[in-house]
Amino acid sequence: MYKQIGVITGGGDAPGLNAVIRAVVRTASGEFGMKCVGIEDSFEGLIGETRTMKLTPKSVSGILPRGGTMLGTRNTGSFCCFEDGKVVFPEGAIREALENLRKFEIEALVVIGGDGTLAIAQEFYKRGFPVIGVPKTIDNDLAATELTFGFMTAIDIATEALDRLHTTAASHDRVMILEVMGRHTGWIALHAGLAGSADIILIPEIPFSYESMVQKVFQREKSGSRFTNIVVAEGAKEVGKSEIYQDSGNSQAAPRLGGIGDYVRHKIEEMTGKEARCVVLGHLQRGGSPNAFDRMLGTNFGACAVRALANGQTGKMVALQAGMVINVPLSEAIANIKTVSADGQLVRTARDIGISFAAPKEAKL
Ligand code: F6P
Repeated sequence: MYKQIGVITGGGDAPGLNAVIRAVVRTASGEFGMKCVGIEDSFEGLIGETRTMKLTPKSVSGILPRGGTMLGTRNTGSFCCFEDGKVVFPEGAIREALENLRKFEIEALVVIGGDGTLAIAQEFYKRGFPVIGVPKTIDNDLAATELTFGFMTAIDIATEALDRLHTTAASHDRVMILEVMGRHTGWIALHAGLAGSADIILIPEIPFSYESMVQKVFQREKSGSRFTNIVVAEGAKEVGKSEIYQDSGNSQAAPRLGGIGDYVRHKIEEMTGKEARCVVLGHLQRGGSPNAFDRMLGTNFGACAVRALANGQTGKMVALQAGMVINVPLSEAIANIKTVSADGQLVRTARDIGISFAAPKEAKL
């Protein structure tokens, strides 16, 4: 049994991070008698002027409903960079971090993060350091787990935004466009679009055509609905075109998606003559209190992660499969991103209830 373990939160924050931290600390100190140390600002707290904090059941008291992470996080830093479009893990930073872990008498790590953070965790595992991952991201794009915590809260927020846009769209007979996050996947757009009664959902997995989109707007006009609600994932793209980026990134930071909503607004106005407006939901999807589901899932993930470590598991990630939390190899979780199946059940359901994905072939139907 380890005497002391460390906890790290990395990547973009997501609602439920504090729930995981709390469950890790309570499980480790209660059931297994292990001490906990929080590493601040992702792996960065392990190098240079190191930043750590002692975590006790008392110090994590009251954090369950709080958004963000009490440990701080980073989605850029010294542990990962890009060389000729390839991800590289600088050896110097990892070596220094491993040395400091030894000095702090931290014997294993619970790493809470998405694919980028877990890829760094895998580098520690490959060098013999015990790690267990916890799947976090509002995007829900991690492979090997049906759900990541943070996703359900993001859907709630996007759904509420769609509900609100609905009434103003209807009052003004406008086309309202909501741009949501999700990186290269359409999970948030698809789920919120279904829950928030969108008329058109644009996702990266189904490239769209403006003709098809406009046809849907006119179809609705004909049937007496003079407004249209569109939800667009930030990574959605027109057939044959690339994604739209806010900035192209550099050796330290990945390129940042964003801006497709306004392109769609402009084109819709041009092609239909209707007024259109675009709202970019942005970081509102990540901030604030986690919903009940994410508090529960985060708590279960945190406790299961500690149990896995205590049972000698390493190089694994806790994952939700068929309603149960199991352990899967980290390598499986980071190998590929999990995308929406373009002919999967939810897309089919959306189409059956009259939602358009503005695919070119839909224009001919
Ligand atoms: O991965 C989470 C996420 O919110 C993505 O949906 C989005 O593309 C990205 O992070 C935004 O990152 P940043 O916080 O650096 O703007």
